[in-house]
Amino acid sequence: MSQAERTYIMVKPDGVQRGLVGEIIARFEKRGFKLIALKLVHATPEHLEKHYADLAGKGFFAGLIKYMSSGPVVGMVWEGLDAVKTGRAMLGATNPLASAIGTIRGDYALAVGRNICHGSDTVENAEKEIKLWFPEGITQYASVVEPWLYE
Ligand code: PPS
Repeated sequence: MSQAERTYIMVKPDGVQRGLVGEIIARFEKRGFKLIALKLVHATPEHLEKHYADLAGKGFFAGLIKYMSSGPVVGMVWEGLDAVKTGRAMLGATNPLASAIGTIRGDYALAVGRNICHGSDTVENAEKEIKLWFPEGITQYASVVEPWLYE
C-alpha cells in the first residue's frame, strides 16, 4: 500500500449524460484522494476494444463497446493510499442491484449495462489503463493537504 498508488476512474457515457461527473469527483475529493489527471473524450470503438481487451470473448462485449462509444466519457487518475481497492469499494459492485447503498452505483444506477463508472481492478491494470488513456503523461503537483491526510 502506498500513498502514491494510482487508479484510473472513468465516468461512462450514461454518467456524463445524467450529470453525475461532479458528484463522482466530489466523492473522491472528499475521501481524500488527489486528482492528478482528467479529460473528457469521445472514445473510438478501437480504443475501447484495447481498454476492454480481456473481455473480448464475453457475450456482452459488442454491447459494452457500443455503449461506451455512444458518448463522451470522463477519464481521471486519482492518487492516494490504497487507491485501487478503495476506489472499487467506492464504486460498488459491478451489478448496481448488488451494490450497497452509499456506493456510487448503489446510489445512482440500476443495470449492469448502464453502471455509470469504471475503476481499475488491480494496480497493474491501473498502470496499463493510465498509459492507454493518458499517453501524454501526467502533471505532478505538490498538495498542501497531504500532511492533514496522512500521519
Ligand atoms: S466478468 O464477466 O466477470 O469478466 O465481468 P466483470 O468483471 O463483472 O465486468 C467486466 C466489465 O464488463 C462490464 N459488464 C457488462 N457490460 C455490459 N453488459 C453486461 N451484461 C456486463 N457485464 C459486465 C462491467 O461493467 C465491467 O466494466 P467496467 O468498466 O470495469 O465497469
